[in-house]
Amino acid sequence: MIVPGSRSQALAASLASVLDDTLAVPDFDRFPDGETFAAVPEVADATPDRTVVVAATPSNDAYVELLQLQDALGEAGVGEVVTVLPYMGYARQDRAFEPGHPVSARAMARAVSTGADRVVLVNPHEASVADFFDVPCDVIDAAPRLARPLQDLDSALTDPLFLSPDHGAVDLATAVRDAYGTGETDYFEKTRHSGTEVSVQPSDATVAGRDVVIVDDIVATGSTMAESVAVLRDRDADRIFTACVHPLLARAARARLEAAGVERVYGTDTLERDVSAVSVAPSVARVL
Ligand code: R5P
Repeated sequence: MIVPGSRSQALAASLASVLDDTLAVPDFDRFPDGETFAAVPEVADATPDRTVVVAATPSNDAYVELLQLQDALGEAGVGEVVTVLPYMGYARQDRAFEPGHPVSARAMARAVSTGADRVVLVNPHEASVADFFDVPCDVIDAAPRLARPLQDLDSALTDPLFLSPDHGAVDLATAVRDAYGTGETDYFEKTRHSGTEVSVQPSDATVAGRDVVIVDDIVATGSTMAESVAVLRDRDADRIFTACVHPLLARAARARLEAAGVERVYGTDTLERDVSAVSVAPSVARVL
């Protein structure tokens, strides 16, 4: 049985379809004082050997809801609870950046581990976050899925360059290039000045007249991608696409990208947005 969190209903449905498994329909509600409520009524009758909870956690409420779903399954006595975190909130707070700071990713991982027998993460910012869980944790790379919408374009990419905004994401750009089948890869150097201000140092790659795909793990405020798009525009790139696994798109990210002159924004359904052009369900299904 596949149990969706409220933020991952379409992905859970896709996963149930790929696995030919049952899709549960949880109750999601909220008490007058604001507390969340999440239950899985049908699990009491079904008591499956294994349930797979699929729940992105982009907010505190989403985390609480996930803990409630896991607890409801434990209460019903299901055999094994596998928790898929398509997008793990707080994963970027993976160390104490200053004395007295929390390792928030570890705190979240420990909480989730209390109700899961196994965890699956999709492209966490750092794979080492898997070590924070007290139960076995698999990390999967869904970046190759991002090649699909590029292959479906009406006109094929011209002399494509797959670019990451910093060296840390060049593996993702390479994975998309490999799945697309042709093109070069390169990366910019990024300096972050604040939560919403970044600057990028261009590489030597020639971009004039070429189609460029900028690939990153996450688009949050859109600052990183918008700055990269602006640099490429200045250097006369032709079409500029952005592709990310997690389209968080916080604040005015979408407008920021459009204003910078992006051709199309692509993401996966680890976070369900209007730019979620491709599902990670087949990648997740392979490890279940
Ligand atoms: C950071 O290193 C990540 O890979 C992303 O580049 C970053 O989280 C994007 O954030 P924003 O969209 O706010 O620039």
